[in-house]
Parts: sequence; C-alpha cells; structure tokens
Amino acid sequence: MSTTENRVEFSSKLGFILSAAGSAVGLGNIWKFPGKAYACGGGAFLIIYLIIVAVVGTSVMMAEFTIGRKTHKGAVGALRELNNKFAWIGGLGVLTGFIIVCYYCQVGGWAMYYIVAYITDVKTVWADPMAYFLGMLGANGFPVGALVWGFIFMLLTAIIISYGTAGIEKMSTILMPILFLVLVGLMIRSCTLPGADEGLAYMFNVDFSTINGTAILTALGQAFFSLSLGMGVMITYASYLSREDNLVSNTAIVCTLDTLVALFAGFMIIPAVFATGIAPGMGGAFGFATLAGVFMAIPGGQFIGMLFYFLLFFAAITSSTSILEGCVAFLVEEKGFERKKALVGCCVIMEIVGILYVLSQVYMNLKGIWISREGIQFPIFGDFLEYLTDRLLLPLGAFLTTFFVGWIWGPDNSIEEATGGGRNKFALAPAYKFIVKFVDPIAIGAIIVAGMVFGMAIS
Ligand code: TRP
Repeated sequence: MSTTENRVEFSSKLGFILSAAGSAVGLGNIWKFPGKAYACGGGAFLIIYLIIVAVVGTSVMMAEFTIGRKTHKGAVGALRELNNKFAWIGGLGVLTGFIIVCYYCQVGGWAMYYIVAYITDVKTVWADPMAYFLGMLGANGFPVGALVWGFIFMLLTAIIISYGTAGIEKMSTILMPILFLVLVGLMIRSCTLPGADEGLAYMFNVDFSTINGTAILTALGQAFFSLSLGMGVMITYASYLSREDNLVSNTAIVCTLDTLVALFAGFMIIPAVFATGIAPGMGGAFGFATLAGVFMAIPGGQFIGMLFYFLLFFAAITSSTSILEGCVAFLVEEKGFERKKALVGCCVIMEIVGILYVLSQVYMNLKGIWISREGIQFPIFGDFLEYLTDRLLLPLGAFLTTFFVGWIWGPDNSIEEATGGGRNKFALAPAYKFIVKFVDPIAIGAIIVAGMVFGMAIS
C-alpha cells in the first residue's frame, strides 16, 4: 500500500485481492471449517455451505465493498456518511471483531507452538497426536507453552499494526500462493492414504437428514467468519480502492479463493480422520492432532508439517491484523484515542480474555461448567466466545448491513458503485438487488431468530 492524499491505497489490483483474500483465508478455513463439516454431516453440509456462500456471502461482500469504496471511510465513518443514524452498525462490528481477535490470537499461537514442536520434538507429537494437543492446552499441568506463544502471536499482531500493513501486503503476494500449493499437495496425500476412501465417502455422501437448524446456522456463521464479513473489515479494505477497480470481479475472486481453501482443508483433514482413526472429540483438534496422521505418512513429513504450520501461522496473522486494525482504527478515528494507547489498551484486554480462553479449554475444564436455563445449556467460556460471534454477532452484523443497503442506502446506489458508474459489467445486478433487499435480510434474520427461540444457537 502507498499513501496518496492521506489515504493509503493498494499498490496494485493484485495487492488488494491478496490482502482481502489474506484477511479472509485464515484459521476459519483450516482450523474451523473441516471440524464443522465433519460434525454437521459431511456432504450435505458442504452443499448448504456452498449455497450460502454463493447467495448470501457474495451479496454481503458486495454490499460491504460498495459501502467502503463509495465513502472511502472505515466501517463506522462510512455508515455515518451514508446515513448518520446507522453508524452504530459499524460499532457493533468492531465489538464483534474484538471478541474474535481475543481468541484468534491464542489459536494463532498454537500454530507457532506446533512450528517449534515439529522442529524440535516431532517424535513426541507423532507418538500420540491427540495427547500432545491436549497436553499443550494443559491436560498435564498449567499450559505455559500455549500461553507464551499466544502472547507472542498477539504481540506480533500488534507490532505489525503499529508499522502499517505494507509488509503484509508484500508477504501475502508470496506466501498465499505457496499456502495454496501446499494445501493441494497435502490434500492429495490425505485422500490417497489407506482408509481415506471412507472419509471421501463421508464428504460426498449427501444425506439431508443430517441437516437441521444447527447445521444451517453453523454454515451461515462459518461463511461470514470465513469471508471476514459482518464486522466491516471489507468496508474498510474497499475504502482504499479507486473507482477504476472492478468490485464485481473482486467479489467473485475473493469468495472463490476463500471457499476453495476451505474445501481443500476439508478434503485434507477429513479423509485423514478416517484413515488414522484420530477423530478428535474437540473441534479445535482437527488442524493439530488429526493432521499428524498425514505428516507421518509422507516422506519429509517433519519438514512439510513445519512448513504447513508456518503457513497456517501466516494465514492467521494476515487475518488477525485485519481484525485488530478495525478495532484500533475505531478507537482512534471515532473515540479520539491516541493510536499507541488504543493499541496497548486493546492488547491488555485481548490478553486477559485470551488467557481465560486457553485455560478454559482443558486446564480449568470450564466447559464442564454449564449454566442451564430452560433446557438451554451455556458453556460459560471456551466455546462460548465462538458461539457468540459466529452464531449471533456476525450474522447480526451481516443482517444489518444488507438491511442497510437494501432499504436505507438503496440497492441501486450500491449497484451504481459496484459497476463504477456503468463502467464494469454486473450481469447479476437484478439478482443482487433482489437478494440484498429480500433474501438476505429474511433468511439471515429468520435463522438468527430461530436460533435464539429454539436454542439452536447452542449445539
Ligand atoms: N476470515 C478470517 C478467517 O477465516 C477471520 C477474520 C478476519 C474475520 N477478519 C475478519 C472474521 C472479520 C470475521 C470478520 O480466519
């Protein structure tokens, strides 16, 4: 990115696409998606997920892109400029992002922990991958290592933000394509492991009886999380674009890349679950414990494993910086904080919440403590943060964004911006108009309400 007229711009078209894709491709694709696809029934979940991305995901992304480029402002400022009664939607997004980044940095730290583990102690990891993973989280004592690496990851995120994102843009250009290639290679190996065919059958077996409200809500929240939607990150990114950039093709490319990475990760991990028999009881273990089975089965597995966790770390940090930047920019631009103070303040709270998140995984077994109200059970911490953001706050943010574009700002204004005043083709404009006005608000709204009323928000 370079600075012109006080406004940072991306140095090239590819720079924007890779930065937006860098924000989108992260732990959501590799750490979360496969576990959800596995838990929600394989093939049928994939189909629901693809439909949601194609209809809801692309339209919400287009809505965010057009708001951002129209106003050249961050989320809150952009909404205020278009209609000052709605700036709070951006504020809600910032809060959501903050909750996400608290646990995101900890999981990013786990990736670093595994880089080191693969270099120094791969035999122990491979001897019992699940035990190793749980050990990291405190099954055998206070999880010092996980906390130290979580702290380092958070610190790195903060340092990168304090220097601006130019370096990230450059690194993304090199590392994102490598990540893509490594994933394809690992996916092929995983699918050819003895016993993997059961996993493939699972992924291709479309049995819609496995689809219930929870699965749909999970797919919806996962789509928003994975595409970085519902909290204004894409508004901010697009605010750096010029009228020459084609928002229609950018939307298509970013959504496609992100979804391909998620699918590759799914087809890398789930066949390995069946081939190795390491079926984790905890969703979070997929990217860490299960994959050991693949690395063990390839020549040079130690090196490739290390490379994989390095890339995972990298994918995570391009996402964590995008979220934290949104929070810091909000405090600076809207609340008049000094940038350094805003950053330090965010870090302190992030660290406290992050520590509780890690401790609650295994060490304190907070998952075992439930509040039960009218038959609905709440875990107090641990996964609760994820439930709160993925199943409520992100869908809510996306709902408000589409409602805003569909009914307040107006889809025609959004379409005008999308085509750059008629310069670019947007063949699906009529469909977009209909979706953003009716399909998105009704579908997302109904799913959120159903989730709350029927308790589907907690599986
Ligand atoms: N999309 C990222 C991932 O899949 C996470 C992320 C980055 C995000 N920015 C976001 C999620 C904004 C929601 C909103 O890992």
